[in-house]
This record gives sequence, C-alpha cells and structure tokens, in this order.
Amino acid sequence: MNVICKMTAVVLALGLAACAKTPATGAANDATSVTPTSAALAVDTSLPPIVAFKSPTCGCCELWVEHMRAAGFQVEVKDTQDMGAIKAEAGVPVGQGSCHTAKVGKYFLEGHVPAADVKRLLAEGPDARGLIVPGMVPGSPGMEQGGVTKPYDVLLLAKDGSTTVYSHHGD
Ligand code: CU
Ligand code: CU
Repeated sequence: MNVICKMTAVVLALGLAACAKTPATGAANDATSVTPTSAALAVDTSLPPIVAFKSPTCGCCELWVEHMRAAGFQVEVKDTQDMGAIKAEAGVPVGQGSCHTAKVGKYFLEGHVPAADVKRLLAEGPDARGLIVPGMVPGSPGMEQGGVTKPYDVLLLAKDGSTTVYSHHGD
C-alpha cells in the first residue's frame, strides 16, 4: 500500500508537470483529427458505462478516465479511501494491483488498461473476470508523463484465478 501511495504521489507530481505542456502538444493535431475536449465528449452509447473507483488524490487515475472518455466511454468516478476493499471484491490477485479499479459490464478493469483492449473484451465477451495491467507502467494510458515508455502486458483474469496475456503494448 505504501509503495502504491508513494508511486501515486510521484506520478501526481509528474502529471502536474505534464499538464502544463498540454496546449503545445494539442497544436500538433491537423484538421483531419478532431480531438474532443473534456467539455464536449461524444459518448458511444453502444458501450456500457464504466464506474471507476480511485483514491481522491490519484492524478494518473483521472488521466486514465480522460483516456476512456476520449474513446467514447461514459465514466462515473467514485472516490474512496478503501481501494483494498474494492480490489478484494473485484478479485484482483494479490500483487497484481494498480491504482484504480473499474467496472464495465460484467468485467472489472485494474489499472491503466487501454480503451482498445476494453472494447475488444466487450466485443469478444470471454468467460472471465476482467483485465489487469499490474503496477503503473510508464507510457500506458494515463501514464504518459515525462515521455518515458516501457513495454507491458494486459492480462486476462480467468474465473479460476489464472491469468493469460491478452495483449502486449509498448515493445
Ligand atoms: Cu495510476
Ligand atoms: Cu489510477
């Protein structure tokens, strides 16, 4: 828990630094790609809504929520001080947790899972508990601060508690 808290604090600091640079990177978009602003996001009503649980002070959690909203998901954020209880209820394996835990349809999402993997999960509908990106991987959605990236796997948690690699990112 302490490790996660410290990581969150560091990431929050990095996130604040990254926020200051946002207008400059946004100007790189050309006319063919329209990036919705947080004030006017287009919700894809074919997608089930997401409920995201996070601690009130988690900055990278907010950035992940923005990533999911930008991908068309409607996201309800619930702040809680007891993430341990949420993760236990979802069935997140010990040692594979991250900062936030979300629910979508019959699945849970642990950590910085890319929206594309969530859409694939919903389309394929496997008999599973959910997707996990353990820890906080630099370069995963919501963790882009500082320009550092690391390869990571998205894990599919089966109902028997075993995990398999669902997708790989970042090479
Ligand atoms: Cu995080
Ligand atoms: Cu988070």
